[in-house]
Amino acid sequence: MEITLNDVKNNETIRELVSHANKCLEVIGYTDHGPRHVGYVSRIAGEILEKLGMPERRIELAKIAGWVHDVGNMINRKNHGLDGAVMLFPILCEIGMPVAEVCDVCAAVGSHEEETGKPVSDISAALILADKIDAHRARVRVKKFDLADIHDRVNYSIQSTKLTVQDGTIAIDYNMSSSSSPMDFLMIYLTRMQMCEKSAEFLGCNFGLYINGVKLNRWEEPDGV
Ligand SMILES: [Fe+2]
Ligand SMILES: [Fe+2]
Repeated sequence: MEITLNDVKNNETIRELVSHANKCLEVIGYTDHGPRHVGYVSRIAGEILEKLGMPERRIELAKIAGWVHDVGNMINRKNHGLDGAVMLFPILCEIGMPVAEVCDVCAAVGSHEEETGKPVSDISAALILADKIDAHRARVRVKKFDLADIHDRVNYSIQSTKLTVQDGTIAIDYNMSSSSSPMDFLMIYLTRMQMCEKSAEFLGCNFGLYINGVKLNRWEEPDGV
């Protein structure tokens, strides 16, 4: 029997890890990393592979990796991808996932951080893309909202996002209000967007970064030159 995203979500240990990791990050002032964030990452990672025509099982494994990718924050923010992968290995084996699949999920989790991560598989590339593009006002924690904090300011200004995967391009367009700016966005998201470019390339695609419909990355030759 194949282990599904629902099996993983309903596992008590994993549920506690997801919740505790989010609580630890709340205490040290990070934006939301709870069910909203991991749910988004899970859904988008699956959607990217689905739109690229990948096999169903790869899509499900990407969704699983998305749900569990941040559990290492329960130990510490630093190296949370690596810690998460090591913690998840025995848990996923124990719930009956074949070791080869556990390796795929844990490799993706262990490779999603900016400091140490590079795409190592289709699942890993989809996870990086889904995780790094997640900027949205819903991530701002209401209790600690502070416009002087650049993470709050940027996230709060993003009212909606539109992801498209078509014709060999994975593109994200942020609908940003004037309470922040593309400059603010790039100050905190530049290396994440560069990681998205590498991940899209791994999947044989281009990556397009747009804010309010204006493309910010990749030079293109103008018409008629
Ligand atoms: Fe993370
Ligand atoms: Fe994340």
